Amino acid sequence: MARKIVAGNWKMNKLADEAIDLFEKVDAVGGDLACELIVCPPALYVQNFAKSKKALKVGAQNVAKYVQGAYTGEWSAAMLKSVSADYCIVGHSERRSLFGETDEEVNDKLQLLLNNGVAPILCCGETLDQRECGTEKDVVKDQLFKGLKDVSKESVLKVVIAYEPVWAIGTGVTASSEQAQEMHAYIRLVLNEKYGDISNEISILYGGSCKPSNAKELFACKDIDGGLIGGASLDAESFLAIAKSFN
Ligand code: PGA
Repeated sequence: MARKIVAGNWKMNKLADEAIDLFEKVDAVGGDLACELIVCPPALYVQNFAKSKKALKVGAQNVAKYVQGAYTGEWSAAMLKSVSADYCIVGHSERRSLFGETDEEVNDKLQLLLNNGVAPILCCGETLDQRECGTEKDVVKDQLFKGLKDVSKESVLKVVIAYEPVWAIGTGVTASSEQAQEMHAYIRLVLNEKYGDISNEISILYGGSCKPSNAKELFACKDIDGGLIGGASLDAESFLAIAKSFN
């Protein structure tokens, strides 16, 4: 069985005081939940949170594709490990569309994270155009195969997959539980083709306008092991309400 996980992607939100307040509220309750709870704050706060966490796991939202050296403004997978980060998101659609991140770069980052003992949360998902053309499954399969290139069976168990249809991210439009389940089952099949039965142990999260009102229905689907939550993770009450959908 795959682990149940709810992860918050704070994106570029919250000043330091606000971030600490939100973190403390969520961390205080996190241990009583039936799922693993992760927060991914802006990178500046990762060290502080990873050091003081009690119940939560802490992740970054991005990492350099390089090992180390003259890359002004970047931080490495080894640095994330050195400040006790547990996870790091890679291949988020905003990184792909706004910062031109390619599948090859996503794979480089994912490999560096695995080599340094930080668990990657690998995002995939189609745009509205791609869905309207009926190519959503091909797009997702391609992102998964390229993102997981040269990742062994042993290593893939450390990877969490997040399916986030681009048309549902931050739009208020959620994929229906049927649409989400269909794609999650397909992702499981793709993982099974590549890795065999251990695909059942890989957590596949849904992301895209997930909120307290729809989380329970989504998480009840057979192949949906939790959520990657953007907007609704910025408020302790709504984030915890989503996580409690598993209780
Ligand atoms: P959203 O974002 O929940 O605000 O749609 C999800 C994400 O981008 O991870």
